[in-house]
Amino acid sequence: MSNISVFISEEKLHNRIVELGKEIRSDYGDEEIVLICILKGAIIFCSDLVRAIGGKTQLEFLSAASYGDSTESSGKVDISYKLSQSLKDKHVLIVEDIVDTGLTLSKVLEKMSEEEKPKSMKLASLLSKPSRREIDVQIDYLGFEIEDKFVIGYGLDLAQNYRELPYIGLMNG
Ligand code: IMP
Repeated sequence: MSNISVFISEEKLHNRIVELGKEIRSDYGDEEIVLICILKGAIIFCSDLVRAIGGKTQLEFLSAASYGDSTESSGKVDISYKLSQSLKDKHVLIVEDIVDTGLTLSKVLEKMSEEEKPKSMKLASLLSKPSRREIDVQIDYLGFEIEDKFVIGYGLDLAQNYRELPYIGLMNG
């Protein structure tokens, strides 16, 4: 069994998410924000972020899958969602775990703006690997920029495992 080393500690994650939450709330003032959590990877980040933002918020969920069981994107993105409200005239904040090639997010942003026509749409991502980017995506709120390494934990998986780790980890060996 491979061992895992801590790449971004629980404390660092917590501190950065509190900062992001304050920044987001200050940008939106008293306005309601509809957070769209991209399942499954962003669920843990989103649940901490929504509490760090505070004020008037709502939560919706969207599922996007591109990796299968491997560490390389399949290049195809399956997006499915069932919202409990119309997003027309709402401020939408898409919440993602990591932007890698940018393919998933570009598809999600395109689909949401075409089908839902929100008043505004921004993107918060916990992590970004800029060296892997194939499609440019504007990340409005970013937790950490990281190098090209496959990370796990805090919602991120390898073949559906390790999401429960409280930190972002690296597999050794
Ligand atoms: P993209 O479409 O290439 O930007 O990939 C985005 C998705 O790939 C993310 O939502 C993650 O689910 C997954 N992903 C990318 N890099 C990693 C990683 O290092 N660990 C775990 N999942 C990753």
